[in-house]
Amino acid sequence: AKYTMIDQETCIACGACGTTAPKVYDYNDEALAYVVLDENEGAVEVPEELEDDVLDAYEGCPTDSVKVADEPFHGDPLKFE
Ligand code: F3S
Repeated sequence: AKYTMIDQETCIACGACGTTAPKVYDYNDEALAYVVLDENEGAVEVPEELEDDVLDAYEGCPTDSVKVADEPFHGDPLKFE
């Protein structure tokens, strides 16, 4: 299982993740990305068919703000760093 969340402290609103994985990431009023699955808590398992998109977004984020892990983040994007 994969879990994902965005570190909004480092997101520069580049817009790549939502283009790569539009079913997983969207943008708030400040154009910062968040995970639509659970309002960026990183607690809901990524549906299996969306895992490849999530990994592509992870690799494509210029500021390493797309976080991906095998366990839930529960709101802390730096939990596994
Ligand atoms: Fe932000 Fe990275 Fe997405 S900078 S908009 S989290 S690709």
